[in-house]
Amino acid sequence: MVARSALLAVLVSSARAAAAVTIAEADLQAFLVNASATLYPPVKTLSQKIWNLHEISLMEVQSAALVASHFESRASEGWKVTRDAYNQPTGLEVDWENRPAGSPATLPTIGILAEYDALVGVGHACGHNLIALNGILVASLVRAAVLHYNIPAAIRLIGTPDEEFTGGKIRMYQAGAFKKGDIWMLAHPTVANAIQPMGARHTAVLAITGTDHYNAIFKAYQALVAVVDLSGKLPGTASVAVPTENVGAYESNVVQTEIKLGVVGDIAVVNSTIAQAWASKAAFSAVAWTISKDSTGVVLDITGPGGHSSEGTLGALALSVETFRLLSTNQPTYKYYLPSNTTVTELDLSISVRSRYTSDMSAVENAVIAATKPYYTRISWDTIMLALEVTPYLGQRVATIYGEAAFNESFPITNSAPAATDAGWIQQPVVDANSAAHTFLSESVPVLHANYGICPNATGAGCPFNHEGPFATLANAELGYQKTEKMARVEAQIAVELLADPAKMAQARALVK
Ligand SMILES: *[C@@H]1O[C@H](CO)[C@@H](O)[C@H](O)[C@H]1NC(C)=O
Ligand SMILES: *[C@@H]1O[C@H](CO)[C@@H](O)[C@H](O)[C@H]1NC(C)=O
Ligand SMILES: *[C@@H]1O[C@H](CO)[C@@H](O)[C@H](O)[C@H]1NC(C)=O
Ligand SMILES: *[C@@H]1O[C@H](CO)[C@@H](O)[C@H](O)[C@H]1NC(C)=O
Ligand SMILES: *[C@@H]1O[C@H](CO)[C@@H](O)[C@H](O)[C@H]1NC(C)=O
Repeated sequence: MVARSALLAVLVSSARAAAAVTIAEADLQAFLVNASATLYPPVKTLSQKIWNLHEISLMEVQSAALVASHFESRASEGWKVTRDAYNQPTGLEVDWENRPAGSPATLPTIGILAEYDALVGVGHACGHNLIALNGILVASLVRAAVLHYNIPAAIRLIGTPDEEFTGGKIRMYQAGAFKKGDIWMLAHPTVANAIQPMGARHTAVLAITGTDHYNAIFKAYQALVAVVDLSGKLPGTASVAVPTENVGAYESNVVQTEIKLGVVGDIAVVNSTIAQAWASKAAFSAVAWTISKDSTGVVLDITGPGGHSSEGTLGALALSVETFRLLSTNQPTYKYYLPSNTTVTELDLSISVRSRYTSDMSAVENAVIAATKPYYTRISWDTIMLALEVTPYLGQRVATIYGEAAFNESFPITNSAPAATDAGWIQQPVVDANSAAHTFLSESVPVLHANYGICPNATGAGCPFNHEGPFATLANAELGYQKTEKMARVEAQIAVELLADPAKMAQARALVK
């Protein structure tokens, strides 16, 4: 017996939507493999060009133009390209539709995201050239399949600038760019496959001024100690405050793998103190240092893997902070300086503040403000990145398809939540803050954000992580391109399944208010 309201909903939706087009999964997969053989090679070449350009946020002019030209040169296929979309000079919108006779007035629409910005100094160390490849290839494969099976459907691809810096998708969301898509898809290369939620993130920049250079460095390190000491004491779920950047000059989102700290003091004491700090935590085992003298004092040059700002791995900055903590306690007369420039009297520190749920963020921010207030003269906050929740249907579909013989890869669904990207703004997820389990209540638009591995070892072991310089090499390696082609076929398959079947689309959108 079907409840009356459910029956009505079925009748209403079948009146609006076209009937489902039945497609055998094996047939669709074979079609996509064949179509990709033609469609993938030119997009791979385009992705390699974007990698070589490595244009940073808001300056990705040639990269955006390459993506626009790709579709403009195929205008005969029906692509309509808008450059500078939504007043974003490096944003773009690409629309396409198939409207056979009898199509509903509003076509089911798949939204696809393409990013292409790089990082200052380390190029495509986050692999956004592969995100562009995935987005363009998904759009092209979906078009081919929609025509082949004659499905009434539309495609909207949005080229989104500035993921790394101030969040281009936020401005595009506010301008209405994502209203048309029924669901949105992207895929992000990283070290291992995972469907995972993403925590909220808000970056604070502290300006620290001193009476002179030594005083400024002293206060900056005091602030860093205060931030490190917040560990385990912050409100909310899985909340952290991580100083991510260099002391002195910082580049947004770039993991610093080298930190230099100058100490006016005895070299033997400094040497034994850093050794003691290093031995205090096993997580420093991959961090190394050299010690030398310059005309001002003792120079510690500390290097190590950074870990992403989302991972909380202990890197070079953390060891310099622990060394400062011990020295400033035991040797109160020692002074500190930046070996690169002993005249600066203002330093900017950036603190990445994160919590599992967006609703906890203001409490966490207040705790960071309270702890660092004695040291800064100004604090400013970047735009908040909202948490991104897993839409169960879409996440499960990725895991299921990868598990099939044709793909044969494990794609786990996990609860570990790395730091959000600006895609959370498209989804605008709402979680029930009053429920102990933080039930996922609704979302503005479902977003599929699959993190897929491009490391030779499927576990990710031995590979650099996103935002560490050497990750850029993985993002331009043959394996990275191959894994992206595979990911694009999986997302295209899911997109076609949803466009062909209103019932599946309804399941994928079930959490939308
Ligand atoms: C494979 O793709 C080629 C080129 O796009 C096309 O001509 C051919 O019909 C396709 N074959 C199948 C079995 O879909
Ligand atoms: C630092 O200490 C190590 C032993 O822990 C020693 O081998 C090294 O020579 C010392 N370096 C300096 C510059 O004192
Ligand atoms: C040191 O920093 C100050 C202030 O930012 C700057 O004016 C000066 O040019 C820098 N000196 C060197 C040698 O980099
Ligand atoms: C799937 O991959 C595993 C190793 O990852 C291999 O042992 C197995 O034979 C593969 N199965 C198929 C059907 O390809
Ligand atoms: C992959 O990583 C796992 C876990 O660290 C390790 O046991 C395994 O030997 C690695 N495999 C290769 C091929 O490096």
